[in-house]
Amino acid sequence: MFSVQLWAALLVLQTTLSGTVASPLPRAAGIPILVGNDDGWAEANIRAFYTQAKAAGYNTLVSAPAYDKSGSGSSSTTPEPLTTPGEYDSIPSGSPAVGHDASDDHLWYVNAYPADGITYGLANLSATYLGGPPALVVTGPNQGSNLGIATLFSGTVGAAAAAGMPAIAFSGASGSHRAYTELVAGDYSYVYADAALRLVDALLAGGVPYLPSGTALNVNFPEAGPGTACESGADVVFVMSRVYWALGLPIDAAQCGGNTLPTESSVVGTEGCYASVSLFDTSNKLDAGKADQQTVVDALGDFLSCLP
Ligand SMILES: *[C@@H]1O[C@H](CO)[C@@H](O)[C@H](O)[C@H]1NC(C)=O
Repeated sequence: MFSVQLWAALLVLQTTLSGTVASPLPRAAGIPILVGNDDGWAEANIRAFYTQAKAAGYNTLVSAPAYDKSGSGSSSTTPEPLTTPGEYDSIPSGSPAVGHDASDDHLWYVNAYPADGITYGLANLSATYLGGPPALVVTGPNQGSNLGIATLFSGTVGAAAAAGMPAIAFSGASGSHRAYTELVAGDYSYVYADAALRLVDALLAGGVPYLPSGTALNVNFPEAGPGTACESGADVVFVMSRVYWALGLPIDAAQCGGNTLPTESSVVGTEGCYASVSLFDTSNKLDAGKADQQTVVDALGDFLSCLP
């Protein structure tokens, strides 16, 4: 706990200094992050996030399924050796149930469900490769949106819910499933990664415990990349939202002059480049209560915006 607080203090210090002094340190100063998904460890979006998070200075460890496990919710099983080649031929058939990339020991596959990738990473990898528990678990960015009731079936949301610690599930509307070897400069996957890291930075700068216990964030990005309103991560405007429509009742945290948060679908559907940030209860994947929402709204402060 002491070291997590120290990292948070360092991040705040760097954020404070960065406006006035050119800092030679990477902004994240080795803060450990565990990353999973449901699209599989060789998917473009998760690898783009891994690359950008490392470049930002995070100590980043991927522990994600060996195959595409989209739609598997919170399913769990014991990892098994591979009987066919792993996703996009990234792992030979006959390989062990868990393993890492031949040239990078911070890239792990777990041949089980998305939630298992995270629980395995926390229990069996993070002490060795992150030097202790991660400060934060990130899942995704998922290929395709996870809005409203889709959150119940999403393995990316399921993996975040399984973390049992502060976690963010990211999803992006653009593209289709493809291998990380297809990433190009300006790729929407890099836009999602850069935008996701802005929220990660902001949440960590708020200090421990980052999120109320028993909650996680579900974040959705609209279409991104060249020719869209989201050409870079800096274009993304984050808006506090709720997963489910609540009949317009004023039951939410005070934000943008009211107590009724917009649904995440309406945020992502607004013309421009708006990303939804919903706080959910990890035990049932329903919207978190008003007090917990307020904690997050207050911690993120000016990082959050209002819809036009
Ligand atoms: C950690 O690894 C051990 C030994 O391989 C395994 O039995 C256990 O299930 C793993 N823990 C998780 C949470 O996957």
